[in-house]
Amino acid sequence: MIGRLNHVAIAVPDLAKAAAVYRDSLGAEISAAVPQPEHGVTTVFVTLPNTKIELIAPLGDDSPIARFLQRNPDGGMHHVCYEVPDIRAARDALTAAGARILGDGEPKIGAHGKPVLFLHPKDFAGTLVELEQA
Ligand code: CO
Repeated sequence: MIGRLNHVAIAVPDLAKAAAVYRDSLGAEISAAVPQPEHGVTTVFVTLPNTKIELIAPLGDDSPIARFLQRNPDGGMHHVCYEVPDIRAARDALTAAGARILGDGEPKIGAHGKPVLFLHPKDFAGTLVELEQA
C-alpha cells in the first residue's frame, strides 16, 4: 500500500533558528516560511535529494503541535508522511484492519495541496503517520 517517504516533519519552537541550522550547518536548500493557518503551523521546507524535511512551528493559539512542544521543548520528530496512490482506499483498508484515523476521517488538503490523513500513533509503532495521496 505505502509508497515513497514524502517527508519527515520536525516540530520546532524557533523556526528561524531551525531553518538556519539546516541551511548553514547542514548546507540544505530551504524554502521561505509558509504560514498554513488551516493547519495551525508555519512550515519551512527542506529539500533533500531523496525526500523532504518539514520544519513546523506553532501558528495561532490552538496549534495542534503546541502540546507536543510542551512535552518536547527543544523540538523533535513529529510525524512521517508516506505516499499512497488512493487515500480513500488506503483509509478504508486501514480502518477495516482496525487502525484509527484522526479527526473525522475525511481527507484534508495538506501542505502540498494534496489530500492527507493522519493515523493514530498507538496503531503505528508509536509514530504519528500522515498519508498523502501521491
Ligand atoms: Co506532514
